[in-house]
Amino acid sequence: MKKNSKIYIAGHKGLVGSALLRELHKSGYENLVFKTHKELDLTRQEQVEEWFENERPDYVFLAAAKVGGILANNTYPAEFIYSNMIIETNIIHTSYLFNVKKLLFLGSSCIYPRLCPQPMKEEYLLSGSLEPTNEAYAIAKIAGIIMCRSYNRQYDCRFISVMPTNLYGPGDNFDLNTSHVLPALIRKFHEAKINGMKEVEIWGTGTPKREFLHVDDLAGACIFLMNGYDESEIINIGTGQDLSINELAGMVAEVVGFKGGLRFNSSRPDGTPVKRLNVSKLNALGWKANIPLKQGIQETYKWYAENVANRTLP
Ligand SMILES: NC(=O)c1ccc[n+]([C@@H]2O[C@H](COP(=O)([O-])OP(=O)(O)OC[C@H]3O[C@@H](n4cnc5c(N)ncnc54)[C@H](OP(=O)(O)O)[C@@H]3O)[C@@H](O)[C@H]2O)c1
Repeated sequence: MKKNSKIYIAGHKGLVGSALLRELHKSGYENLVFKTHKELDLTRQEQVEEWFENERPDYVFLAAAKVGGILANNTYPAEFIYSNMIIETNIIHTSYLFNVKKLLFLGSSCIYPRLCPQPMKEEYLLSGSLEPTNEAYAIAKIAGIIMCRSYNRQYDCRFISVMPTNLYGPGDNFDLNTSHVLPALIRKFHEAKINGMKEVEIWGTGTPKREFLHVDDLAGACIFLMNGYDESEIINIGTGQDLSINELAGMVAEVVGFKGGLRFNSSRPDGTPVKRLNVSKLNALGWKANIPLKQGIQETYKWYAENVANRTLP
């Protein structure tokens, strides 16, 4: 990408999109274009084509999607498969029609098979059954990856797909009905501390292991790959290190300053037992994550306290 290339960030208000916007600005890219969901509904093909026809972007970061934690994925599978398939179909196909130089599609570590050997290598995608709680989302994301690969093969496009691990950071979703585990823990511990509660309920058994990457690190990796990775094969983005939900809860409680106990509710689903990425391919290209988890949680809690805690959440 040149500093004056026209770069479209789809989903620039989201966790990933807003981090991409920050990092691109910071790195001196000036010609950034975007529209809110309200201004441009990416599920509407005609609106997407009109936008590309008017703007004619050189590069596209596809960070718009329907995203949620385990409860939302399990409760609204139709919405997850419909929205994600239609958004990616519209943007990938229209990028081809309007000769976009390069597109970056976001897959996710949660679309690897449920019982994938650990740490998960790129070649393990589609090697086994999916986690049932997010099967609809996973199938939609896998379709996006195969679409990028197919457009590269048939039309000589340069559409790359990346596989981030669990992300967190400023701009995260703190709504307990739809959020991921880390922001949910921040909110639960914060409210428990404010309300003087003795105990906080944590979903599941606390034993599943997860890896977490600060979204600013992810944005840095996406820009790095947009500038230097041209293969059709997916590439993992993560730290390569994991910890149990129990350990994570302890770390979040410490950062937030909650001194009470934790009660694990095993009637809530655990999801995939272990999920850790093999990041040797990305590391070999010269990129490594550099924001330590505790520091990232501190920053995210500060952002939450300043931007969300005073607002009434549903
Ligand atoms: N968060 C993670 O832990 C994680 C991990 C791995 C991969 N990823 C991938 O990263 C990408 C971005 O995730 P995220 O966490 O940044 O999600 P997010 O915070 O929910 O952001 C998604 C953005 O897409 C927009 N959007 C949704 N439907 C739209 C539509 N029909 N038209 C226009 N805009 C629409 C949303 O706008 P509204 O909010 O206004 O609807 C929102 O701004 C996804 O592809 C996801 O699979 C995320």
